Amino acid sequence: MGSVETTAPSHYQERAHFKECIIYQVYPASFCDANGDGMGDVQGVISKLDYLKDLGVDVIWLSPVYKSPFIDNGYDISEYHEIDPRFGTLADVDQLIAEMHKRDMKLVMDLVVNHCSDQHEWFVESRKSKDNPYRDFFWWRPAKYSDSGERLPPNNWREEFSSGSAWEWDELTQEYYLHLYCKEQPDLNWETPAVRQAIYTDIMKWWLDRGCDGFRMDVINLISKVPSLPDAPIKNPEEKFQESYKYTANGPRIHEFLQEMNREVLSKYPGLITVGETPFTHHDFDVLVPYVLPENKELQTIFQFEQQEVDGYPQLVPKDYKLSEFKEITARWQIEMQNRGGWNSIYLENHDVARSISRFGNDTTPTYRTLTAKLLSALQCTLSGTLYVYQGEEIAMANLPKDWPIEEYVDIASQVYYAEELAVRKHKTGEEKPDMSDIMSALQRKSRDHARNPMQWDDGLDAGFSPINKKGWVGKPWMRVHDDYKEWNVAKQIGDPESVLSFWKKMIAFRKSHLACTYGYFTLLSPSNEEVFAYTKEYKDERLLVLLNFTKEDVSYTLPEQAGAVGDMSDFTGNYTSGPPHFEGREVKLRPYEALVVAGGK
Ligand code: GLC
Repeated sequence: MGSVETTAPSHYQERAHFKECIIYQVYPASFCDANGDGMGDVQGVISKLDYLKDLGVDVIWLSPVYKSPFIDNGYDISEYHEIDPRFGTLADVDQLIAEMHKRDMKLVMDLVVNHCSDQHEWFVESRKSKDNPYRDFFWWRPAKYSDSGERLPPNNWREEFSSGSAWEWDELTQEYYLHLYCKEQPDLNWETPAVRQAIYTDIMKWWLDRGCDGFRMDVINLISKVPSLPDAPIKNPEEKFQESYKYTANGPRIHEFLQEMNREVLSKYPGLITVGETPFTHHDFDVLVPYVLPENKELQTIFQFEQQEVDGYPQLVPKDYKLSEFKEITARWQIEMQNRGGWNSIYLENHDVARSISRFGNDTTPTYRTLTAKLLSALQCTLSGTLYVYQGEEIAMANLPKDWPIEEYVDIASQVYYAEELAVRKHKTGEEKPDMSDIMSALQRKSRDHARNPMQWDDGLDAGFSPINKKGWVGKPWMRVHDDYKEWNVAKQIGDPESVLSFWKKMIAFRKSHLACTYGYFTLLSPSNEEVFAYTKEYKDERLLVLLNFTKEDVSYTLPEQAGAVGDMSDFTGNYTSGPPHFEGREVKLRPYEALVVAGGK
């Protein structure tokens, strides 16, 4: 097979720890409850470090454990230096860091600094008076008035969790403040130099000096807004408030701010891991790649959202998609990053999205579920970039059961979406119980709740998430445990060489021993084939051929000329146990949901 044509700069394939490490995201509320109060905690994470190490994990990204009123499950922080009592203490986090370092693992904390909680001291001060020293830490603006004298918010921006305004009126000082998320999450004003200094020094350095090894930066592309705060374009004329992202995402000073942050903080701590979450930006490499170009000295990686939006945007308005669209997005990100010299993050799951096997695989029978979980693992473990695995993904946790009522969906985004739609329908139909089946079906496909129920450790009470204390009492988990935990849990899979968990472990080891997975130049084969996702990866003198049958049928696939010679099939791995793939000429038969990864020389 000849070399792929690429304009990739040479540094793209230069080895680095941040590129090769396997990062596992822990959503602390739902990971492991060590003290039996029904809520996961830091001691619970410590108790599972050996499990994670054994899986091949090098780094944990810990979603927020800071003090929080928990309106948005910890992404509303009221004190950045304290651990919320529901998760433990600062001493527990110190112990976590020490235990991780002992095992040669790193801890990445969540840095949520586009906004804080309305209970944070900065905001409590800020709302006290117009001349309070913290006033400019936030975006305060006077009201506008309509011709009839009605008080209106300063512009037409909508908040993210509802169809309401992104501005909240404050009686005391008779002004509005900006909140792109819910009203309990006021946006910090990064135009104010003291805000930036406080974040760099009091938050970031404080945590780095404590031993934390990097940050996952929450909605970091929203920190620079167009300061004149103009009205957003009217995309939906039926709505009073509109998506603000033209003026709030990737704003005019974003790169200046991140370069300053890098200069003042990140560059001073060698070996850090950084990843920025960059939502609300579609199909635009010119906008997103600069965040991760090494010469720009900003971040190492970003989480792009295009792949996540293949089955619907906004998130709770699902749509069907074709395999060719999924492949095209994957391929474009692989190739654009390689050609421009940026770096990808590879992920299908996190705490904000539904389970990958339910979205991109098939969770309708145990066999399909196992096969497709392995197929998605083979896909992710052979793509170039830094790999993220989300808790439960490694045992094929699936979306919540379809017969669970709305009351089991506890996320603010799900609750508000349902309540608003219910109110509209009640009003329209005059019925007390209007038909909400389409909304339930959207939530069943896409809600964030699917990622947030307790991790399934064993087949004991509450899936082993909470321990039974000495009196035999067990805390009721804060969120209901999935009905399928007796069949799908870590204990059942850990000793079974055919389990999804064992396959993840095998694929992670394969990724670590075949650098073409992490660094290889990517070539998409057969882009319009709606059954098979096929590609090659090339790194130095190594090449991989990856064949993934995304259908539940037997499929015959003919390897295009572009893929080069069929070659030696002795170094292969796949999700079926029997024998190496059998090529007849250039044709190979793939079994239902078969994943094949073949490694060889060029
Ligand atoms: C990010 C977080 C999400 C949170 C939002 C507001 O997208 O991942 O969970 O709701 O930011 O902080």
